[in-house]
Amino acid sequence: MRKYTNVFDLGNLEIALSEASEIKQDRYKFENLGRHKTCLLIFFNNSLRTRLSTQKAARNLGMDVIVLDVNQGAWKLETERGVVMDGDKSEHLLEAIPVMANYCDIIGVRSFARFENREDDYTEKILNQFIQYSGKPVFSMEAATGHPLQAFADLITINEYKRNQRPKVVLTWAPHPRALPQAVPNSFADFMNEANVDFIITHPEGYELDPVFVRGAHVEYDQQKAFEGADFIYAKNWACPGVTRPEDYGKILCKDMNWMVDATHMSWTNNAFFMHCLPVRRNMIVSDDVIEAPTSLVIPEAANREISATVVLKRMLQAL
Ligand code: CP
Repeated sequence: MRKYTNVFDLGNLEIALSEASEIKQDRYKFENLGRHKTCLLIFFNNSLRTRLSTQKAARNLGMDVIVLDVNQGAWKLETERGVVMDGDKSEHLLEAIPVMANYCDIIGVRSFARFENREDDYTEKILNQFIQYSGKPVFSMEAATGHPLQAFADLITINEYKRNQRPKVVLTWAPHPRALPQAVPNSFADFMNEANVDFIITHPEGYELDPVFVRGAHVEYDQQKAFEGADFIYAKNWACPGVTRPEDYGKILCKDMNWMVDATHMSWTNNAFFMHCLPVRRNMIVSDDVIEAPTSLVIPEAANREISATVVLKRMLQAL
């Protein structure tokens, strides 16, 4: 594997899930694979889970790890070509990428949507520059439009907890005080559309996700109708994706607290499990009682981030 940015990079999901299960049974099984190999993790944005779980995964495989927080201690980076660099940015990404690539074998990048320009975000301008100019395998640790390590961990979790062969999985929008990117819901949809599940997306009108990710999924604007009979509820906020009105890209169109997942919402389901990628704002996205219930999977999901990252890094090491 030379890049990991979406579900299709994983290939057959059943095989990927069986590799995840193999690693979960013995996470050090491939501990010699990464000997004398270095994984560079580059963060343009904050992180708790991704930062820790990806380091742990690399070490499971015997790799050395370097973590760079671009905004803390490195030179400020210019990312646009043609800019006269007479401001506070001392180095251009186009030099920084090949320089950083000298010091490692595999690169992970976290670079969120900036909401300045939909096209820049949706063409994954920053991540693709790493893929194009580093000459090294590159994996997304959440980019502008996708979070495939999270979505793979979510799929692993659903596979572990499902009570029937083809569970009903609902992705629901929920309110949030700040504008958040669409990376997590996009990747979740990307994965669920390829998995053996009945997948429904529910959100207020205006929050339609990009068709590249929605594909054939059923979109239901009535949240209660969407929740009926659900086996898994996956809650997430996202700002307007600008699909129907590009001028609304990145805006908050709705703060309706009736969309928050609480006990009443969960009572509409088939005793569903509750999922969220974390971090989550309690009593905005989900009520205390739902996230603390025995049916909440937020901690197992986070634990599976180590497993999804170990599978991806293992495949990248095997392809070096
Ligand atoms: N879910 C997730 O990616 O968490 P962090 O932002 O803390 O890494």
